[in-house]
Amino acid sequence: MTVSIERQGEIAVVTVNNPPVNALSQALRQGLFDAAEALDADRSVKAVVLACAGRTFIAGADVGEFGKPPMPPHLPDLVARIERAAKPWIAAIHGSALGGGFEVTLGCRFRVAVSSASVGLPEVRLGIVPGAGGTVRLPRLAGVETAVDMVTTGTPVGARKAHEAGLIDAVIEDDLVAGAVAFARAALDRPLPDALRDRPVAAVAEGFWEAAAKTVAARAKREEAPLSALACVRRAAEVDFETAIAFERETFLALRGSAQAAALRHVFFAECAATRPPELAGVTPWTIRSAAVIGGGTMGAGIAAALRDAGLPVILVERDDGAVERGLANLRAIFHSAAKRGRISTDAAADRMAGITGTTDYAALSDVDLVIEAVFEDLDVKRDVFARLAAACRDNAILATNTSYLDPERIAEGIRRPERFLGLHFFSPAQMMKLLEIIPTRASAPAVVAAGFALARMLNKIPVRAGICDGFIGNRILKVTRAQAERLLLSGATPPAVDAAMRAFGLPMGPFEAQDLGGLDIAAFQRKAARARGETPFAPIADRLCAIERFGQKSGGGWYDYAPGDRTPRLSETVASIIAEEAKDWPRPDWDEDAIADCILLPMVNEGASILADGTALRASDIDLVKIHGYGFPRWRGGPMHYAQAQGLDKVVEALNALATEGLADPPCELLLEAARHGGFSDASR
Ligand code: 3HC
Ligand code: NAI
Repeated sequence: MTVSIERQGEIAVVTVNNPPVNALSQALRQGLFDAAEALDADRSVKAVVLACAGRTFIAGADVGEFGKPPMPPHLPDLVARIERAAKPWIAAIHGSALGGGFEVTLGCRFRVAVSSASVGLPEVRLGIVPGAGGTVRLPRLAGVETAVDMVTTGTPVGARKAHEAGLIDAVIEDDLVAGAVAFARAALDRPLPDALRDRPVAAVAEGFWEAAAKTVAARAKREEAPLSALACVRRAAEVDFETAIAFERETFLALRGSAQAAALRHVFFAECAATRPPELAGVTPWTIRSAAVIGGGTMGAGIAAALRDAGLPVILVERDDGAVERGLANLRAIFHSAAKRGRISTDAAADRMAGITGTTDYAALSDVDLVIEAVFEDLDVKRDVFARLAAACRDNAILATNTSYLDPERIAEGIRRPERFLGLHFFSPAQMMKLLEIIPTRASAPAVVAAGFALARMLNKIPVRAGICDGFIGNRILKVTRAQAERLLLSGATPPAVDAAMRAFGLPMGPFEAQDLGGLDIAAFQRKAARARGETPFAPIADRLCAIERFGQKSGGGWYDYAPGDRTPRLSETVASIIAEEAKDWPRPDWDEDAIADCILLPMVNEGASILADGTALRASDIDLVKIHGYGFPRWRGGPMHYAQAQGLDKVVEALNALATEGLADPPCELLLEAARHGGFSDASR
């Protein structure tokens, strides 16, 4: 049953039970509405405790209902019904009271919570604003500043901080429902506070709204919802309650149907789906309680930091004592910077370092649960490391490689118990980037693959399963992006024009700026390996830049010139003349920003479709997650595959055919043509 009522003397306890997260489906809204009616009619009831069964309080409106016409009772009416109930309602919160769930508690007269609970209005993350009075009641409860912060960032607040901010009335240490019932009894002995709708909004300092608008706009970039959420709170402070509620609802309904909200909803469900692949349902992962990292360079240090952030003890293995010291110094720098930015305290930084042991001795690994290798991208070096690991580690220790392009099957060739081996591909900087590509070999045991997904959860990362090919999902698409960027140069566009167009689309930086930052040498190595395999990678200009050692910022120049100590890209005469020489025979259409973006994005989608066709990715939405969490693709665009679907795949096919006719892209692959005929990629619509 969704809603049940139990009595503890004069206190009624209403329990919501709508697994998995007690989302406010139509049936639940109706159940709560009916409960409010029934309890108002029952004279023996003096107060009502609202609690939830399962792992969390109400986690919000049912996002799955957002694409459908709203069904009564509407959430704002339910919240209003609870607020004007004849007896006070007390919300008893565990887990998360989010969105509509928190708004329901704002209709209650009191809120109590266990210390591990959190409350918040995360609607902006779904491209919408709170739609059931959150922006209007919250400033009446906790002041305008707290309300603006919560609704424009969407960040939840932990129970203790929520108590300090006046968002909840008490933190209950022991049994939540018993504590809430006791709280209710005590409250009945005192005069009741006003319902939130009847409280005033405290005035703000002069200039507050202008300053808030600047801050929110800068943070939101091109997302619409945060500024709309700010507008709602402002309205709540400036007009009467009912007018503000109407404005909020109107804003909510308008945004709910927007392209950004559809994209963000798609990403929300993609993330839920990615963490629990159906093929691993019921598989118990191998346990991970301790870890080691081999190699303390850029990636190894970042991975070790991520493992420490999750509380795992870490052993760092390097080639020699000097390299151990350098690796530990890299880690110290990461934690120092995190402390400097206020992300962790200095005590926490010291504690993170204290949990790391640096060594050159593989014998130290005899009891670790997980080893991640991040040494040079060289097959022989990696094989040598795994031969040693296979001998030094327990048979049930998971052995993982962070290779970017090498074939994990070949790295693992010949190791004892290959079922414990898999690829775990992190993205730089590994302590910050959310993506983790999980790459099983043919021999990887399902429980080991499941452990990869469990690790991602531990590290607060988004796991995506990828098959073996050159570059897995992310770097394989990156190769296409780069090749397209060069094709644009050969046909009349310039590096700044291409970079500006991709920024305008919403990427944090363009393809040439990004290469100059990361270095052109890594891709050059990878092209060399591809040529050795008989392939013909396309990078005529990048090849010439590497030949004259223009590797990017680190060598003082790449696609752009850089003055010493200055990261500002400047136009390069050298690059311009190389482009002119290479470009001789290419067509030269006029490129505007949209045409440039299409010329890069649509071939990415085509490659994504090939990746689906050969099984390298299991779902189109996984490809979206890879690009969003590994490469900065704007979340509000939903990822390249969603973007293409939102444009209409038939249009994408047509545009790709036109580019192919001009020699500017490959024609659409069979799976893309088929998806266009069937109106979408099979999993990508919800
Ligand atoms: N609606 C529908 N389904 C939801 C949901 C929601 N609000 N929240 C979670 N789910 C589903 C997930 O899709 C997943 O489904 P699956 O098992 O089929 O894949 C399942 O519930 C479990 O979700 P998680 O794996 O995320 O569970 P966790 O225990 O890790 O996390 C949580 C729980 C913190 C509550 C997390 O699910 C979460 O943050 N949910 C989103 C909350 C949210 O954004 N609420 C606001 C909604 S908008 C709103 O309320 C508008 C209102 O103002 C009118
Ligand atoms: P790096 O050169 O910064 O670090 C490599 C480290 O490995 C060095 O500190 C070196 O001393 C150590 N090392 C080399 N041989 C060793 C051995 N036999 N035993 C112990 N330590 C040894 O390289 P980076 O960038 O950290 O790359 C490491 C791996 O991660 C490579 O496979 C790379 O392809 C991959 N990768 C790199 C990414 C990046 O953006 N740099 C992104 C994702 C993966």
